[in-house]
Amino acid sequence: MEKNSAAKELLSHSDDAKAPELSKSDVTIMAETSEHEKFIEELNREAFGPARFTRAAHLIREKGGHDKSLSFVLLLGGDLVGTVRMTPIVVGNANGYLLGPIVVSPKTKSLGLGSLLMRHAIEQAKEKHVPFILLVGDEPYYRRFGFFKVAYGKIIMPAPVNPERLLALELSEGAMDEATGLVLNKNQSKRQA
Ligand SMILES: CC(C)(COP(=O)(O)OP(=O)(O)OC[C@H]1O[C@@H](n2cnc3c(N)ncnc32)[C@H](O)[C@@H]1OP(=O)(O)O)[C@@H](O)C(=O)NCCC(=O)NCCS
Repeated sequence: MEKNSAAKELLSHSDDAKAPELSKSDVTIMAETSEHEKFIEELNREAFGPARFTRAAHLIREKGGHDKSLSFVLLLGGDLVGTVRMTPIVVGNANGYLLGPIVVSPKTKSLGLGSLLMRHAIEQAKEKHVPFILLVGDEPYYRRFGFFKVAYGKIIMPAPVNPERLLALELSEGAMDEATGLVLNKNQSKRQA
């Protein structure tokens, strides 16, 4: 795909140069497909290194896969520069989704692309009547999207997680009342039933 000039300039600009303005037409967000996998892996490798395989979101995702219809990539003038993945989970008697990882290329950080991806994922989750979204991340970033800290000890992740970083967003009232205990991949829990 032919890159438009703002995206092209942005992807090649050095840190000390002023980043060009982006317009809505520069950005495309779409559901993840298998064609995107190689680029998503590259963004995750760049952001987290080998530790990506030990992260709680990875451990849950590998038990039964993520939901590609609720996982999105962000293209800037045709280049894949952002990814967010969502995995269906069961916690106690409650169904929800685990959001993560979300990564934006270092070349295009702080332009609002992470927020666009977050808001898109949340909107799409609402449309699909997802009851709640859980994630592990920095509360100062995610509270702008409505995420709050989960009560200590209520939800247990399959890998050690700083309780200050276990955050949730209820998309329907009371959706997390019965979300207590270990987080399982929904597909894993179906197989165990
Ligand atoms: C987190 C991330 C996706 C945000 O993407 P982004 O496109 O840079 O985000 P936005 O442009 O929407 O927002 C940028 C703002 O958020 C702030 N921000 C970014 N990460 C933050 C964090 N961890 N804690 C607090 N604030 C943060 C920035 O300082 C910036 O603030 P400003 O608007 O006042 O300048 C991106 O920084 C990233 O890929 N990080 C590495 C991977 C990662 O840690 N992912 C999250 C855990 S899975």
